[in-house]
Amino acid sequence: MRLDKVIEQNLQTTRKEMKRLFLMKKVFVDGAVEYDPQRNVDSQLHKITVDGKNLLTNHVYYLLNKPAGVVTAKKDSQFQTVTELVAKAQRPAGLYPVGRLDRDTTGLLLLTDNGQLGYDLLQPYSQVTKTYHAVINEQVTLEDKKAFETGIVFHGGIRCQPAQLNILRAESGYSEVLLTISEGKFHQVKKMFLACGKKVTSLTRLAMGPLRLPEELAEGDYRALTLEELQRLKTYFR
Ligand code: URA
Repeated sequence: MRLDKVIEQNLQTTRKEMKRLFLMKKVFVDGAVEYDPQRNVDSQLHKITVDGKNLLTNHVYYLLNKPAGVVTAKKDSQFQTVTELVAKAQRPAGLYPVGRLDRDTTGLLLLTDNGQLGYDLLQPYSQVTKTYHAVINEQVTLEDKKAFETGIVFHGGIRCQPAQLNILRAESGYSEVLLTISEGKFHQVKKMFLACGKKVTSLTRLAMGPLRLPEELAEGDYRALTLEELQRLKTYFR
């Protein structure tokens, strides 16, 4: 949450008082004077002290193992949504999915009500990589691997950034691969394989930045990020 919002929520500060607190160097984050009212903070990661008082935030961060058939949205007129998989009592109004998985894609999805963090994680400057396990309807070749590493060009001319393709199994009519990409174009993985004349028949996201899909988390289940996982996201707090 933005630092000025944290202060306003905790101390019911007027705009004028807020300005004064920053001007008088009364705002500290992790022991250092903070000058930026817009800095994104979370009291689980940062020690926030204003005029000698410790301030708290109450954001939530969930790792969901998205099942197929559920849409990555907050509301949908036809299908169940990923936020609806979270128990009502644990679902703050601002809870939303960071990024998007297709309805038939499964795997790791971060849900949070920290909109600033979610926004930053998706920006190109954050360089958040995503790793997918994909099943393909054809034999994936070393030429495909090279093309992914050079930068796939979609039908229509858009060029993707280089991506790392590891072939786990490749036989006539069936392949399994691990693919790591560092951008998030619409239907990116499916379109990358289509550009090679192949079709993704099953797609699961295993990792996003420093987060991994926990093996013990069944499809449809979610859990709060551990403090260690949250700490790994600290570099993305701006
Ligand atoms: N790429 C896709 O094509 N689909 C997803 O759901 C995620 C990445």
